[in-house]
Amino acid sequence: MNLSILEGKRGIIFGALDEKSIAWQVALAAQKAGAIFTLSNAPVAIRMGSIKQLATQCNTIVIPADATNTEDIKKVFTESIEYLGGKIDFILHAIGMSPNVRKHRPYTELDYEYFHKTLDISALSLHKILQIAWNLDALSSQASIVALTFIAAQRVFPGYGDMSDAKATLESIVRNFGYYYGKKNGTRINSVSQSPTPTTAGSGIDAFLRFYEYAQESSPLGNADAQSCADFCIVLFSDYTRMVTMQNLFHDGGFSQIGMTILPSE
Ligand code: NAI
Repeated sequence: MNLSILEGKRGIIFGALDEKSIAWQVALAAQKAGAIFTLSNAPVAIRMGSIKQLATQCNTIVIPADATNTEDIKKVFTESIEYLGGKIDFILHAIGMSPNVRKHRPYTELDYEYFHKTLDISALSLHKILQIAWNLDALSSQASIVALTFIAAQRVFPGYGDMSDAKATLESIVRNFGYYYGKKNGTRINSVSQSPTPTTAGSGIDAFLRFYEYAQESSPLGNADAQSCADFCIVLFSDYTRMVTMQNLFHDGGFSQIGMTILPSE
């Protein structure tokens, strides 16, 4: 896409780790669409990943923040508003991590300390971002927020573990905060339910390859890649979708509507 549909808009993009990250592609697409934005990630991810390279490419700054820490998030908003010169028009929430999944704990043997962490990082962080922005009055009228999610929020994908519960909570926060923000100032909040995508978070799931291949074979369009997900996010940040809010939008090549698929010869 080569449209300047985000010209004049200011954003914050959470979750770019390396060039495989969906957030990385969103940043590149947002720049192409004319937006200015800041980047944020956890301090450890900034050290381990290559987000600084992305910041140079996009001529912007990286603001370190652990997305579970409210003081850190506050800093992201105050510094972003100062750096960008005004209130925020769009936010990408591309944050997810489960210590249970990382440590290969099956769903029937979850560690509850880890489970709390999964929920805090992958779901409550969205609530924290939205609540802090609310209290700081940091969002412009008709801002657009997008959070990334996965179909395991609705259906069972063995191996996705407690991330399924985190995504269900995330989607609920999208709906509920979407109501309050819509009433407050017209801000829109949606989640994008993306195909399995070979990123660090995606590939960290033991069953990832099976998810990927199953969805690839079932979907009439095949799996959506990170670049096409980025294009969809850009449209959602733009004014062309100004009446779309509180939705969970599937960006999955049709996978979510499939009952069964037939072989090419049938
Ligand atoms: P990624 O590994 O590139 O991004 C995940 C990001 O979360 C990383 O940048 C990581 O540093 C950040 N993060 C983890 N803990 C954090 C914390 N405490 N504070 C701040 N940031 C933290 O992987 P990907 O796939 O681009 O993930 C982005 C989003 O897309 C996630 O919400 C993921 O669940 C979602 N998603 C991914 C799919 C996939 O198959 N890769 C499919 C559907 C949704």
